[in-house]
Amino acid sequence: MFELIFKHNAQRLLKIASERNKTMDSNDSVVLVTGGNRGLGKALVQAFLDAGARKIYVGSRTPIETSDPHLQPIKLDITNAQDVAAAAHTCQDVTILMNNAGVAAPTSLLTAPLADEARQLMETNYFGTLAMVRAFTPILGKNGKGTIVNMLSVASWFATPIGRSYSASKSAALSLTQGIRIELRSQGTLVIAVHAGYIGTWLLRSTRRRPARKRLPPTSLKAFATIKRKFLQIRRARRSKRSLLATHRCSTSDSRLNGTMLSSKKGSALLKEKSRER
Ligand SMILES: NC(=O)c1ccc[n+]([C@@H]2O[C@H](COP(=O)([O-])OP(=O)(O)OC[C@H]3O[C@@H](n4cnc5c(N)ncnc54)[C@H](OP(=O)(O)O)[C@@H]3O)[C@@H](O)[C@H]2O)c1
Repeated sequence: MFELIFKHNAQRLLKIASERNKTMDSNDSVVLVTGGNRGLGKALVQAFLDAGARKIYVGSRTPIETSDPHLQPIKLDITNAQDVAAAAHTCQDVTILMNNAGVAAPTSLLTAPLADEARQLMETNYFGTLAMVRAFTPILGKNGKGTIVNMLSVASWFATPIGRSYSASKSAALSLTQGIRIELRSQGTLVIAVHAGYIGTWLLRSTRRRPARKRLPPTSLKAFATIKRKFLQIRRARRSKRSLLATHRCSTSDSRLNGTMLSSKKGSALLKEKSRER
């Protein structure tokens, strides 16, 4: 489904970008997608390909293998300054920078051992994106304004139970997006934020870390077993009472047909009698 949405939006984006550049036809667009090897990045690469982009640089930590002449794989870890500089050196014809690479983790803001994870989220989602923007701003300007698209999230607007540090890093990236929009106004670069909802990729799996199950002491297990036995006894008793009540209701309606309606007192007496019989 998201492939379809991406395809439609990629077409629109190429059109908008080319209209802003004026000299450019939408098929002249050269796109760089970070984290283009899987998930949304891979779908974006395909969408730009289908929309008719002239060239797509597929940035990924492990370069992809492809025989498609429109795709150019590049090794790019956005947290690595050398990789970012090398990408800027190689991709001099970029007109659309798609900052898609990102990480997530179910990191608690308050639990000390996860402080490193919180830092890593900021390193990738905020500082990595910023490094890419800084490296490619002159290139986009040189190629006639250009466009920057930052893949943010609905989690940029609020903290989610599954990843508070992720939300914090995406909020920082949202603020960054708004900031560069102001700074790049003079250059005429279009700055777009995409606030994606939850989509079933690897990223979501990485937010589903469950705490290890605690083993209960044997005394608690014994207590649980007793409670369970009692519960089952009560449920069995209730079920048989319910079937008795149903029998009673039938006999009541029968008696109504006979014109000898049972009073509720008589009914409960009958119920007691029947349960004694059992
Ligand atoms: N899935 C969702 O529900 C959702 C919702 C809102 C926003 N988003 C955003 O969408 C973007 C893509 O996420 P996804 O769902 O497609 O997740 P994904 O399948 O986990 O893909 C993440 C991509 O980012 C790359 N990446 C991570 N750290 C990198 C780094 N330091 N340098 C370069 N590339 C790096 C990964 O490369 P490797 O293969 O090398 O790890 C991978 O290609 C992220 O920015 C995410 O925050 C996703």
